[in-house]
Amino acid sequence: MIDVASSAIVLGASGGLGSAMVAEFLNDPAVGQVFAISSKQQPSGLGDPKSARKLVWLTSEYNETAMAEVASQLVPHAGTFSRVCICHGLLHSDTLWPEKRLEDINGSALQDIFHSNTVVPALWLKLLFKILKGQNPCIVATMSARVGSISDNHLGGWYAYRASKSALNMILKTAAIEYGRRAKNVKFIAFHPGTTDTALSKPFQATVPTGKLFTTEFVAERLAIIMDSAEIDGELSYLDWDGQSITW
Ligand SMILES: NC(=O)c1ccc[n+]([C@@H]2O[C@H](COP(=O)([O-])OP(=O)(O)OC[C@H]3O[C@@H](n4cnc5c(N)ncnc54)[C@H](OP(=O)(O)O)[C@@H]3O)[C@@H](O)[C@H]2O)c1
Repeated sequence: MIDVASSAIVLGASGGLGSAMVAEFLNDPAVGQVFAISSKQQPSGLGDPKSARKLVWLTSEYNETAMAEVASQLVPHAGTFSRVCICHGLLHSDTLWPEKRLEDINGSALQDIFHSNTVVPALWLKLLFKILKGQNPCIVATMSARVGSISDNHLGGWYAYRASKSALNMILKTAAIEYGRRAKNVKFIAFHPGTTDTALSKPFQATVPTGKLFTTEFVAERLAIIMDSAEIDGELSYLDWDGQSITW
């Protein structure tokens, strides 16, 4: 169980899964305040009028200077955080598309994907360290993906996205070891949501088997349950939406 005075942080709060996690924490009476951090302005209609009072929306560009400035605004609340959800991720855009073969590999696309999927979460883990360290048990869940598993890669393709998620998993594993020494109250989860109906998966939904395309609300509820039952063990767990372990 989490402390009633506890707070949650959602990073990358305007995306499909990010906004569902904000709503999930707003609806959780055990969470007293929800800090949502996004490059976008606050959308209207997040949470009912009563729970919306718990929401603090902070905007940030994704460079280290701007992110450090936002992190400094969380300092007065240091030690109250029990839930953190890092939701950044990029798979396609107007200018980039997942690679089908070697010839599709493009240096600037690789850098863009690594920046959002790996670099930005890594910087948050650095910038939040002093804010999360304390006595309050704190679960940090980061949106990874099953395609980041090296042993599970049987199909190939999607070089940049796969590699950025494998690299993210290594950053999380390494951070879990260091937090385990220096901030023993923090537990890390690398989370695979399953294929979920968001802008990120939209172009790839046609081939998803019936019943396997999840709503963001379903996945947010699953992740909240997984975070509630997580043990503070100094380890990184790599889990899917059903709470099942994924091989590295
Ligand atoms: N949907 C799926 O089927 C699926 C499956 C497996 C894994 N995932 C993972 O789940 C996470 C959330 O994805 P989603 O489905 O909710 O996608 P989404 O709706 O497209 O949301 C994308 C998120 O990434 C952030 N973002 C976008 N461009 C960025 C950039 N250049 N730098 C840093 N952050 C950036 C956005 O933050 P702002 O708030 O600033 O806009 C937003 O939170 C991702 O890590 C994704 O890889 C999703």
